[in-house]
Amino acid sequence: MRSQSAILLAAGKGTRMKSDRPKVLCEVLFRPMVCWAADACREAGIESVCAVIGYGGDQVQEVLGQSVRYAVQEQQRGTGHAVMCAKAFLEERRDGDVLVLNGDAPFLDAATIRDAYALHRRERNAVTVITASLPDPTGYGRIVRDGDGIAGIVEEKDASAAERAIREVNSGAYWFSTPELLDVLFRIRSANAQGEYYLTDTVALLLQAGCRAGAFRAENPDIVLGANSRSQLLSLNRIANRRVAERLMEEGVEFLSLDGVLLSPDCRVGRGTRILPGTILREGAVIGEDCVIGPNSLVSRTTIGDRTVFNASQCYQSAIGSDVSIGPFCHIRPNSRIRDGVHIGDFVEVKNSDIGESTHISHLTYVGDSDVGRKVNFGCGVATANYNGISKARCRIGDNAFIGCNTNLVAPVTVGANGYTAAGSTITDDVPDDAMGIARARQVNKAGYNRKIRGTQPPKP
Ligand code: UD1
Ligand code: CA
Repeated sequence: MRSQSAILLAAGKGTRMKSDRPKVLCEVLFRPMVCWAADACREAGIESVCAVIGYGGDQVQEVLGQSVRYAVQEQQRGTGHAVMCAKAFLEERRDGDVLVLNGDAPFLDAATIRDAYALHRRERNAVTVITASLPDPTGYGRIVRDGDGIAGIVEEKDASAAERAIREVNSGAYWFSTPELLDVLFRIRSANAQGEYYLTDTVALLLQAGCRAGAFRAENPDIVLGANSRSQLLSLNRIANRRVAERLMEEGVEFLSLDGVLLSPDCRVGRGTRILPGTILREGAVIGEDCVIGPNSLVSRTTIGDRTVFNASQCYQSAIGSDVSIGPFCHIRPNSRIRDGVHIGDFVEVKNSDIGESTHISHLTYVGDSDVGRKVNFGCGVATANYNGISKARCRIGDNAFIGCNTNLVAPVTVGANGYTAAGSTITDDVPDDAMGIARARQVNKAGYNRKIRGTQPPKP
């Protein structure tokens, strides 16, 4: 079997994005475009991938990490020049085929890569260009046909009026037979409208050298779509988002509107769940059946059980059970576990805490670094003082405890099972099981005081 490798072009600045970050790091559904392309290579079973980096190369390397090798293109002199910079990588793999693909085209999928490879081998091509027909081909290189075969690729800026009318475009992804690519690569010249070394010129050069060139036309035109501008990036996000929504609807998820809804491709949602407008399901959102999520909510790296209502709130890196209600306006911060049947009302923040079954935290409360038992009731305005400015400590609250309104629990402190704290207490010492802790000044009533300062005047209306 011949070796398969890939060169991922990711050195360009992306001038048309008007950003300081390299274009390939622009995100489609929370994932940099270059990662979509790298994932497709991996899914297609390509073992070794070399990313050509240049502009903002450090940032690209940070994102792709050790999963790929790197070649550096110091100056961005075109896609052909970028591949020249990976010469050493190509020479090590002279026996095989190499896929060259763009880092700014996230929808090229593994199936298309494999199907194109099968055609490439069947036809014994030196190059097989992956193409698609678009209703509006503006901006893409056009595929010039010669009967069933391909005669070359013309960039839009170099195209005649007749060539511009061609709707079949170059995806920017190609399978090459590596030795034949190396034979013509360094013969590319930059005599064109942009003064660049175009990789697309290899097609005509290979044909001139008597090699075979073919085209694999993908059925789904989306696979070619790239983002050169912010506007195109928005279109890609819309397409990708719609695709996730279609999958979820297929699986029985309900949307009344997709307004403001953003869905990470890996999100999972059970049947019967309703997603309301303004909801963002980021990476690692796993939601059970018959929930209501939203409006205006964000779920990231969190699992949620069944029949849970999550209203106008945010949660990160946590686990939320079934039959829970949260919101509106709650913030569930990382490392929290909210067990079944819990009710968390408005303006509550929970951080790094375990909240036991059927506990109620109904209003205006902060629970941080705490272990809370079952069926605990928090009054309004409770705060855990978990941080003394130097270190954090935990609060422990036993089953069935009742924490009165406006209690401060100064950690480390424990309220035992069935314990009680009086409203307005600042609890610094442990409260034993079944006891009440009260820590506040006693009330004093001053008889007639108010009348004295107001005199005999009636109160102002
Ligand atoms: C390229 C193709 C065009 C195709 C389109 C598909 C060429 C000459 N044209 O055009 O036929 O229809 O992709 O999207 O290849 N890059 C480098 N170094 C460079 C220049 C670019 O690494 O010197 C990288 C970019 O980061 C990008 C990719 O190559 O990921 C494509 O470059 P871009 O400038 O976007 O090419 P297009 O004009 O879109
Ligand atoms: Ca492009």
